Amino acid sequence: KVLVLDYGSQYNQLITRRIREMGVFSELRSNKMTLDEIKAYNPKAIILSGGPKSVYDDDAFTIDPEIFKMGIPVLGVCYGMQLMAQDLGGKVEANPGNGEFGQTVIKKSGNGSKLLADTPDEQVVLMSHSDNVTKLPEGFEVAAGSEKTPIAVIANDQAGLYGVQFHSETTLSEHGKQILKNFVINIAGAKANWTMDGFIDEQIEKIRQEVGDRKVLLGLSGGVDSSVVGVLLQKAIGNQLTCIFVDHGLLRKDEAQQVMDMLGGKFGLNIIKVDAQNRFLSKLADVTDPEKKRKIIGNEFIEVFNDEAIKLKDVDFLAQGTLYTDVIESGTETAQTIKSHHNVGGLPEEMHFTLIEPLNTLFKDEVRELGKKLGMPHEMVWRQPFPGPGLGIRIMGAITEDKLEIVRESDWILRDEIAKAGLEGDVWQYFTVLTNNKSVGVMGDYRTYEYTVAVRAITSVDGMTADFARLPWEVLQKVSSRIVNEVDHVNRIVYDITAKPPATVEWE
Ligand code: XMP
Repeated sequence: KVLVLDYGSQYNQLITRRIREMGVFSELRSNKMTLDEIKAYNPKAIILSGGPKSVYDDDAFTIDPEIFKMGIPVLGVCYGMQLMAQDLGGKVEANPGNGEFGQTVIKKSGNGSKLLADTPDEQVVLMSHSDNVTKLPEGFEVAAGSEKTPIAVIANDQAGLYGVQFHSETTLSEHGKQILKNFVINIAGAKANWTMDGFIDEQIEKIRQEVGDRKVLLGLSGGVDSSVVGVLLQKAIGNQLTCIFVDHGLLRKDEAQQVMDMLGGKFGLNIIKVDAQNRFLSKLADVTDPEKKRKIIGNEFIEVFNDEAIKLKDVDFLAQGTLYTDVIESGTETAQTIKSHHNVGGLPEEMHFTLIEPLNTLFKDEVRELGKKLGMPHEMVWRQPFPGPGLGIRIMGAITEDKLEIVRESDWILRDEIAKAGLEGDVWQYFTVLTNNKSVGVMGDYRTYEYTVAVRAITSVDGMTADFARLPWEVLQKVSSRIVNEVDHVNRIVYDITAKPPATVEWE
């Protein structure tokens, strides 16, 4: 495995991605990891990531220089290279001018070292730095340079120490993949044997070891992550796993049934389905404020879950679908505790669970691959994101059974048409919103005065920013005509053409 130490670059996750794509397991860890911890981790290679600081700043993130003497190959990327250069006796100074940003050509000097093997003498790389290495540490050679950065790649082939000033992990560095591969496979000798099958076996073994004959609880939402955790745990410990699935009445059409049929039926998970529709709807009656709705739904959810959890006796573990991105998004140092705390927040004090988070080293697409390997169907593994408060935040104004019916049916029609048009993979998320607005229409010879439904379809990478999807007119036309014809109390459809920001994905 390859250890990537995090110095705060926005690209640091990408480094681990690229290495995993080679079939070598890689993890991002805090730069505060001590030498002993690194030794215990026993990596085949170490990569020091980029970062926003300057290595000569007083508050710069550092590294124990002993790391360079362990005999483990080290590659410094950007900040990481500067840190290595400074610690080993070189010099780092501010770039004269305004630094170097964007795609730049570098040129090999000499043979370019083992690091640049199988890449052309001149190649385009992504630069993004304000500091330069201006003096080489002893034993190092310049393997490549650019016009503004004469020392762009440094190499000490004998010691297995390397530095690249550019971001080899982004696709904007044309041969970045090859360079990382040279380092990880050829130089460090890591074996490309990290596969999803191997991961499954390893996790199952680990879960069995940890759980023994004790019991595990899992909150099942029907979403990709918790479903995959459920199926994996079922494989590992069978009926020692109990799942709680809360139907708050704000789910999509047939969703609760599908979850029960698929996970409870086909995969044989032991699921307690809690029919809490009335509990939720009565608490939500006449509530119109979006934040209040969210709070009520969130709190009620925890209460229902707790009521059920307390009834179960002798449960020692709580399983969660925490992803790798959840762990590292809050910073690698304290992430584990923040997220765990957040997820179990609300469970009664007296319930002391140990957490099981088998997905916490995986990225979302790896979780999908895992689900596929576990035999889960395409529609489950590729399910679009669905917010915890469900349809409750897609009905403007107070929530009623009638209005739920309108969003549920219109949402189903939209999903059906997107599927028929083969667009599921192109659109990140798509749903309908019941605006609390009525307008005049004409149907047959009669005047109508009914609701307006908004269609929202977005493209996005992570939900943080989004653009409205350029759905074909024909698809929108079909959706519009079907909703007006098939759903009662709707006579007008509008398409939401706002990006996020300034809008959000959901309307509330
Ligand atoms: P917004 O509306 O904040 O949504 O732009 C971004 C993404 O997050 C989803 N979302 C939620 N997911 N609980 C969730 O699990 C929530 O309360 C929640 N609110 C929004 C939303 O569907 C979109 O994918």
